[in-house]
Amino acid sequence: MTDTSFTPRVFSGIQPSGNLTLGNYLGAVKRFVDMQNAGIETIYCMVDMHAITVWQDPADLKRNTRELAAAYIACGLDPAKSILFNQSQVPAHAELGWILNCVTRLGWMNRMTQFKDKAGKNAEKMSLGLYAYPSLMAADILIYKATHVPVGEDQKQHVELTRDIAAKFNHDFKVDFFPQPEPIIDGAGTRVMSLRDGTKKMSKSDPSDLSRINMTDDADTIAKKIRKAKTDAEPLPDNMDDLADRPEARNLINIYAGLSGQTPADVIKEVAGQQFGQFKPLLADLAVAHLSPIADEMRRLMDDVSEIDRILGDGANRAAEIAEPILAEVFDIVGFVRSR
Ligand code: AMP
Ligand code: TRP
Repeated sequence: MTDTSFTPRVFSGIQPSGNLTLGNYLGAVKRFVDMQNAGIETIYCMVDMHAITVWQDPADLKRNTRELAAAYIACGLDPAKSILFNQSQVPAHAELGWILNCVTRLGWMNRMTQFKDKAGKNAEKMSLGLYAYPSLMAADILIYKATHVPVGEDQKQHVELTRDIAAKFNHDFKVDFFPQPEPIIDGAGTRVMSLRDGTKKMSKSDPSDLSRINMTDDADTIAKKIRKAKTDAEPLPDNMDDLADRPEARNLINIYAGLSGQTPADVIKEVAGQQFGQFKPLLADLAVAHLSPIADEMRRLMDDVSEIDRILGDGANRAAEIAEPILAEVFDIVGFVRSR
């Protein structure tokens, strides 16, 4: 249900943990751009405070934050239209995060599947931050009273948790303060799978570089990874239902659809009957035509780090202007004395 009593405002974020992938692009950044160009107020963050929930080398974190900013801009985010900044420059995220830690119930956190996936059998060795991270993510969204959150499918549970946290805050303090933000997850590419295993998400942390297309890959690398992508021996059918048990084939069709702006059903009609030997070069050409200019632009932007830092600083100032009055109201609602 859309909450109509709040002004539409979009918030989303990506972790600057390196290797921005085609999954991030199709699942997130491409849709960030669409929403920006639809004329809605858009705020997009590089969530460096989320990144450090697992170890990050400090020099790499700085470089990856700037590279993610370059990727946002190269993909079409315009610092004049969208607020672009890194999370740690707006302390209100952490401050609201603490308050929401005190609203969120342990039982809710224990249901988060991403923590279970990331921690595996090593939960005892994970940081407290990794466990608490969904509550900081709720703060990221709610500190702007954002109403819409474009994310890939893997983040849906966290946005639903954000709705529960917002509702509990409103209920506990008897206010109608936070909106119920909606996850925006639609179209092809909301779940891009590994090129080596169609049942696993394409991920920046997969040990095999062949499993993913990085936004910084050059044309030859993109073509090679698609040529080597795992497939099966059957030709392509003329409908998506027949791909139900062929995860690798389905993934390549989805990627084609995401890049070309078609639906998977339209793509499969076009390529019906083709062998992968025919289809893969088409996909490689499409991917190179789409991604190479973005990689070139990223390299160009990375040559001027001080300009990137200026954009992030300016974005952080504009973000703080929205966040600080909301945080002040939260402090009043919670009962904190504010006297300076
Ligand atoms: P992360 O890289 O985990 O910070 O994710 C940043 C954004 O990209 C989130 O909205 C994710 O849902 C999205 N995303 C990450 N991997 C994929 C994928 N393989 N397919 C679709 N979306 C993805
Ligand atoms: N948790 C998200 C991810 O790993 C990143 C993120 C942090 C985010 N805060 C957010 C996404 C707020 C949307 C809104 O992908």
